[in-house]
Amino acid sequence: MPLVLKEEIIFNKELVPGIFELAFISEYVSQRAKPGQFVNIKCCDGLDTILRRPLSICSVNRKNNTVIVAYRETGKGTRYLARKKAGDKLDLIGPLGNWFHVSDEYKSIAVVGGGIGVFPLLFLLQQNPCAFKGAYIGFESNTCIVMEKEFLHCSDKIMLATNDGSKGFKGFVTDLLALNLLQEGSKGKINGEKYDIIYACGPMPMMKKVFELASKMGIKCQVSLEQRMGCGIGACLACACKVKHDGDWHYKRVCKDGPVFWGEEVDFDG
Ligand SMILES: Cc1cc2nc3c(=O)[nH]c(=O)nc-3n(C[C@H](O)[C@H](O)[C@H](O)COP(=O)(O)OP(=O)(O)OC[C@H]3O[C@@H](n4cnc5c(N)ncnc54)[C@H](O)[C@@H]3O)c2cc1C
Ligand code: FES
Repeated sequence: MPLVLKEEIIFNKELVPGIFELAFISEYVSQRAKPGQFVNIKCCDGLDTILRRPLSICSVNRKNNTVIVAYRETGKGTRYLARKKAGDKLDLIGPLGNWFHVSDEYKSIAVVGGGIGVFPLLFLLQQNPCAFKGAYIGFESNTCIVMEKEFLHCSDKIMLATNDGSKGFKGFVTDLLALNLLQEGSKGKINGEKYDIIYACGPMPMMKKVFELASKMGIKCQVSLEQRMGCGIGACLACACKVKHDGDWHYKRVCKDGPVFWGEEVDFDG
């Protein structure tokens, strides 16, 4: 059950211009959070009416009860958060939302993240005990790369792409994924990397492409959706998104029924 908590910040540091990593102590969240879940943070003082801002849980340390979130300074709320210092209190609700599906049947997994979409995937890699973990991460350029070391540490193979080619593969991370999945072997047979499931988080067109590639290869695929939120706890319907169900459409709440959905449920063009 999510709780309203006031937790102590350990650090809040700028990793690259405009991207921050914030660690706080929370026994409650660190002991319960599952990869894919998020916390909803109060990003204002006093009675300001600004709504809480959702941030994915990027990693937890259950031994010392610490939780890490990372965020891009985007607008009023995250600008406020960027000014927080070690020792300040963080007013949050969490852990919230559903989580990535993990199963003993998935021996080999891949995560595909674009930009700030990489954060929840790090937590998934850290917690997942499967035999092989591939990490595809994409950024605009060399100057935007964050947490590369952490991804290296918790995956068996890391593949990095930058849009401008300043580091790693030049192009979209989905082009790199396609190259590796659709590699041709002898006699025109597809001989690429095999995964039991692919998890994706990032911009909608990126997740759409990942889902299309996974479907083509018969690989299961989950995506983590972003939506502007109100309450964050399933009560206001501000975060409704259209999903496919029994040959029809209906609406689900990203905050409560998501943020993680099976690729085939999602209306990527909606
Ligand atoms: C489940 C979930 C997990 C998230 N995890 C992270 C994370 O780990 N790291 C991170 O940096 N961000 C994450 N976000 C996005 C983050 O919540 C928004 O960037 C933040 O709320 C912006 O608040 P703000 O007040 O700074 O900007 P605002 O002033 O509210 O908005 C500034 C600009 O950002 C756009 N924007 C705001 N919120 C969203 C959103 N949810 N989706 C798309 N565009 C938005 C607005 O349209 C506007 O153009 C997540 C969102 C969701 C729903
Ligand atoms: S934000 Fe209120 S129902 Fe999702």
